[in-house]
Amino acid sequence: MANDIARVILAAGCRDEEIAAVIESVGPARIAGMLVDEIAYRWERPPVELGEEVVVQLCFGHDAGEISYLVRVGSAGVAYEPGVAEKPHARVEQDLREAVRAVFGPDDGRAAAGRRLELCVSDSPTAFVQPPAAFWVAQRLLATTDDRDRSGLTELASRYGSDKWGIHRYTPHYRHHFEPLRDRPLTILEIGVGGFSLSANGYGDPARGGESLRMWKHYFPRALVYGIDIVDKRALSEQRITILHADQSNPAELDEVIRETGPLDIVIDDGSHRSEHVLTSLRTLFPHLRNGGLYVIEDLQTSYWPRFGGNSDVFDSPSTSVGFLKSLVDGLNHEEILDSSDRVPGDFDRSVRGLHFYHNIVFIEKGLNVEGGGPVWLRYPPDHQG
Ligand SMILES: C[S@@+](CC[C@H](N)C(=O)[O-])C[C@H]1O[C@@H](n2cnc3c(N)ncnc32)[C@H](O)[C@@H]1O
Repeated sequence: MANDIARVILAAGCRDEEIAAVIESVGPARIAGMLVDEIAYRWERPPVELGEEVVVQLCFGHDAGEISYLVRVGSAGVAYEPGVAEKPHARVEQDLREAVRAVFGPDDGRAAAGRRLELCVSDSPTAFVQPPAAFWVAQRLLATTDDRDRSGLTELASRYGSDKWGIHRYTPHYRHHFEPLRDRPLTILEIGVGGFSLSANGYGDPARGGESLRMWKHYFPRALVYGIDIVDKRALSEQRITILHADQSNPAELDEVIRETGPLDIVIDDGSHRSEHVLTSLRTLFPHLRNGGLYVIEDLQTSYWPRFGGNSDVFDSPSTSVGFLKSLVDGLNHEEILDSSDRVPGDFDRSVRGLHFYHNIVFIEKGLNVEGGGPVWLRYPPDHQG
C-alpha cells in the first residue's frame, strides 16, 4: 500500500507518460480512491452553516469512461463512496492523469486546465440572494488541490491535538527547519505514536494516538509518514500513514523498520525519552538518514532527570542525551583537532553537518562534514612546523 502511494506521488511530479504508466500498473479505480481519500482528508469546514447535506460528484475521466465518487458534506464532516447521484448539487469532471498531478504533484506543476465544474444549484434566482451551501462546498473541495491548505504548523498541531504546541513550544522550530521541505516527496519516521489517556494506562490504548502523524500528513502533502510505537498501534494506519510495532531501544527491531521504510528524510524521536533509548535509536537510524536529512530529538529536559536515565550533576556524560549531543559539537570541528590529540574521528564526525539546539529540542542535520581543516602554517606555531 505505502509502495503504491509512493509511486503515485513520485509519478505525479513527472510527465504525463509516467502518470499514465502508474495508473495502468496500480489500477485506475484504486488511484481514483486514493485521490478522493486525500481530498476528503484535506477538506476544511466552510465558515458558514451548511444546513442540508451537500452532495458533490467527482468524475475522473479515464480512457473512454469515468470513475465516479460521491462526496457527501454535512455538519458532521465529509464522507465519500463510489457511485453516481441523479441530482448532485455539483459535479466536478477531470481527467484522471491531471487529477493525480493536481492532488499529489509538486506545487508548481499542478493543473486544472481540463477540469469542468458544474454547479447544479445555480440555476435559480435565489442563488443570487443567498448563495447555496454547495457554492462553499465546491470552493473548499477545489481548494484542497488548487490552493493546498497552507495552514501553519502551530494551527495544525492544535487542529490534530498534538502536544508539539501548547505543552511544548516546538512548532515554530519545526516550521523554521521544515517549511522549505514542505512540497517534497519525503519519507518521515516518528518514534512515538502517542494517544495519552488518564483512564487507559497512559499511552497503553492501542486505539488512541497518531495526532502528530496526522499533523505531518497534512503539513507535507506529498510525504509518506511512518510511526513506530512499543504499544501495537498499527490499527491507526491510514493512507500515507503507516504505523509499525517496534521498540526504539532494540536495534534489530529498528533494522526491521528500515527494511519497510527505506532511506529516511526526517526522523523525529518523541518516544520513551530515556537517554539510553534515545542514543540507541540515534546510532541505529542515523546511518539510514539521507544526506540533507534532519534527525530531531524532542524533550531533552529528560537528559537531566535520573528517572529517565539522565543526570543533573554531570553535564557531559556520554550516556545522557545532551551529554552525547554536546560531543557532536567537537565532531563538527573534528578536522581542526590537532594531531597530538588521541581523539579518533567517528561516523558522526564525518556525517553531521549542523546542530541546532533550542529549549528541549535539537535538530541534527546530516551531510558530509569533510571540508578540510585549517592550513598547517596557521595551526601550529612556527617552531612546531616540520
Ligand atoms: C509523547 S508520546 C508521543 C506523542 C506523539 N509523537 C505526538 O506528538 O502526538 C510517546 C510515545 O512513545 C511510546 N514509547 C514509549 N517507549 C517506547 C519505546 N521504547 N519504543 C517505541 N515507542 C515507545 C509510547 O507508547 C507513547 O505512545
